[in-house]
Amino acid sequence: MDSSAGEYGMARVGLFLVLMGLWRFSDACPASCTCSISRIVCIDSAPGIEDFPVLTLDDMENITEIYIANQNRLFDLSDSSLRHYINLRNLTVTKTRLTSISPDAFFNNTRLQYVNLRDNNLSTLSWRTFQNFNITFPLLLFGNPLDCVCENLWIKLRLQEETDSPELTCTDDRGVAQDFATFQPPDCVVPTVEVTPRNVTQMEGSNVKAICTASGSPAPEIVWNTEELSTHKEVKSVDTESILTLSGLSPDDNGRAIVCSAENMVGQTEASLQLNILFAPTILTLLSPERDHHWCIPFTVTGNPKPELRWYHNNKPLQEQDYIRTMIHVTTENQQHGCLQLVNPTHIHNGEYKLVAENKYGRDEKNISAQFLHPPNINHTDDIEYYTPPDDSVAVSDPNQPAPSKAVVYVVVGIAGVALIGCVLMVIILKYGRNSKFGIKASHFFVFFSALSFSSPPSPPPLWLSRLLLSYQ
Ligand SMILES: *[C@@H]1O[C@H](CO)[C@@H](O)[C@H](O)[C@H]1NC(C)=O
Ligand SMILES: *[C@@H]1O[C@H](CO)[C@@H](O)[C@H](O)[C@H]1NC(C)=O
Ligand SMILES: *[C@@H]1O[C@H](CO)[C@@H](O)[C@H](O)[C@H]1NC(C)=O
Ligand SMILES: *[C@@H]1O[C@H](CO)[C@@H](O)[C@H](O)[C@H]1NC(C)=O
Ligand SMILES: *[C@@H]1O[C@H](CO)[C@@H](O)[C@H](O)[C@H]1NC(C)=O
Ligand SMILES: *[C@@H]1O[C@H](CO)[C@@H](O)[C@H](O)[C@H]1NC(C)=O
Ligand SMILES: *[C@@H]1O[C@H](CO)[C@@H](O)[C@H](O)[C@H]1NC(C)=O
Ligand SMILES: *[C@@H]1O[C@H](CO)[C@@H](O)[C@H](O)[C@H]1NC(C)=O
Repeated sequence: MDSSAGEYGMARVGLFLVLMGLWRFSDACPASCTCSISRIVCIDSAPGIEDFPVLTLDDMENITEIYIANQNRLFDLSDSSLRHYINLRNLTVTKTRLTSISPDAFFNNTRLQYVNLRDNNLSTLSWRTFQNFNITFPLLLFGNPLDCVCENLWIKLRLQEETDSPELTCTDDRGVAQDFATFQPPDCVVPTVEVTPRNVTQMEGSNVKAICTASGSPAPEIVWNTEELSTHKEVKSVDTESILTLSGLSPDDNGRAIVCSAENMVGQTEASLQLNILFAPTILTLLSPERDHHWCIPFTVTGNPKPELRWYHNNKPLQEQDYIRTMIHVTTENQQHGCLQLVNPTHIHNGEYKLVAENKYGRDEKNISAQFLHPPNINHTDDIEYYTPPDDSVAVSDPNQPAPSKAVVYVVVGIAGVALIGCVLMVIILKYGRNSKFGIKASHFFVFFSALSFSSPPSPPPLWLSRLLLSYQ
C-alpha cells in the first residue's frame, strides 16, 4: 500500500465531490435566483419563479435565509413550499402577487424568527399559520390589502404587543380603509375555556367525569387531547360543552394532564384536567448485584404515594448506614429507579436480600441472592493446582478460607513473563525494523503486545441503570 497514492486518490475524490456540489447547485437553483450554502435570493422578475426553489434535501436543510422579491407569478405558499427548509430563520417575500398562505405552510419551519410579507396581495391570513412557534417574532404585513374580517382579528391582537409597527389598515365591506387598531368586527371573540374539576385525586380503578365548557364567537370547536391515555375514555360533546368520562383509572396515567382546547377563527385557548391516581406499590425489577463504582443492587418500584423502602438481609432488617444504603438515582412521575449501594462488600454480605415497598394502599416484596466475594476454592492434585470458580447458585459463607494461594501467584508470574518477552521482542523489532516494509509489521507487533500487557480482566460494564431505564421507559 502506497500512502501517497492513497492521498492523491482522496484528493481527486474530494475535488470531484466539490465539482459535483457546484454543478448540483447551479442545476437546481432557478435562473432568477442565486443560491449559496445558507441563503437563497430571488430578485430577478424575468423569467421569475412560481414556487419556492426545490434543491436537494441536504441543501434545503442548510438554508437559513430566503429572500424573494419582484415575482409576478408567485401566488401562493402551499403546505409543501417550505416543508424541507427546516432550518429557515429569516423569510422575506415582498413585492409579489402572494394571495394565500396555507395554514400549514410553516409547519416544519419551527426555527423561523423573522417573517417579512410586506407589499403582497394578502387579504386574509389565519392565526393557524403561525401557531407552531413563538408568537413574539416580528411579522411584517404592511402593504397588503387586508380585509376587515373576523379571520384577521388576531393580527390586531398581536399588533398590540408590537410597539414599533407602522399603521396597518384594513378594508371594510364598503371598500373604506380602516385603522387596524380600531376595527372590531361583530360576533368575533377569542374562545375562553374552563375544565371542572381541574384536579382529580382518585384510587386506581375508579371512574372520573370532567366537563370542558367553552365560549367564544364564532362558536369554538372543543377537543380533548386523550391520545396518550391508557385509561378507557369516552367523549360526548353538546353545544358549548364536552364531557370526558374515564372508567377504570390506570396507574399509567398518574400525573398526566389532559388538555381541553377550544378554537375558532380568532384563536385558540386551553385548559387541563390533572390526574393524581393512587395505587399500591409494585417492585417492577430487582436485579443481581452489579459492580459500578460501588456495588449496586438495582431496583425499580412504582406506587402513589411514593412507597417507603425497607431491606432485609437473610431475613433480618438491614440497618442502612454510610456503607450500605438505598440510593434513588432517577425519579419519574410513576417510577423510582435506584440501588442498594454497598461500599466494598465482603463475603459476610453474601446472602439473600429482600426489598419491601409499602404505602398506605398496600405493599410488595421481592428477594434476590447476592455473592460479593468468592473465597478461592483450591483443588490439590499432585503438583498441579486448579482454580475452580464456585457455582454462583451456591452460597459460600465460610469466613475462615485460606488466603490466595500459589495458583494465583503462578498465574501472575506467567502473565508477567509473557509481557516481558513481548517487550523484548518489541524492542528488537523497533530497532531492526526501521525500514519501511518491516515498519508496518513492527507497529502491528506493538499494538498486539500493548494490548496483551495492558489489558485487564474484563469487568462487568456499569450499565445497570441504563438496563433498568431501557426495560421500563
Ligand atoms: C450542511 O451543513 C452541515 C453542518 O453545517 C454540513 O456538514 C453539510 O456538509 C452541509 N451540507 C451541504 C450540502 O452543504
Ligand atoms: C414536514 O412535515 C410533514 C408533515 O406536514 C412531515 O411528514 C415531514 O416529515 C416533515 N419533513 C421534515 C423534513 O421534517
Ligand atoms: C434575520 O433578520 C434579522 C432582522 O433583520 C437580522 O438581524 C438577522 O441578522 C437575520 N439573520 C439571518 C440569519 O440572516
Ligand atoms: C389580488 O388578489 C385578488 C383575489 O384575492 C385578485 O382578484 C387580484 O387580481 C390580485 N391582484 C394582483 C395584483 O395580483
Ligand atoms: C419565545 O421567545 C422568547 C424570547 O425570544 C423566549 O424567551 C421564549 O423561551 C420563547 N418561547 C418558546 C416556546 O420558544
Ligand atoms: C391537585 O391535588 C393534589 C392532591 O390533592 C394537590 O397536591 C395539588 O396541589 C393539586 N393541584 C392543583 C393545581 O390544584
Ligand atoms: C425468594 O424469591 C423466590 C422467588 O422469587 C421464592 O421462591 C423464595 O421463596 C423467596 N425466598 C424467601 C426467603 O422469601
Ligand atoms: C477437585 O477436582 C475434581 C476434578 O477435577 C472435582 O471432581 C472435585 O469436586 C474438586 N474438589 C473440589 C473441592 O473442588
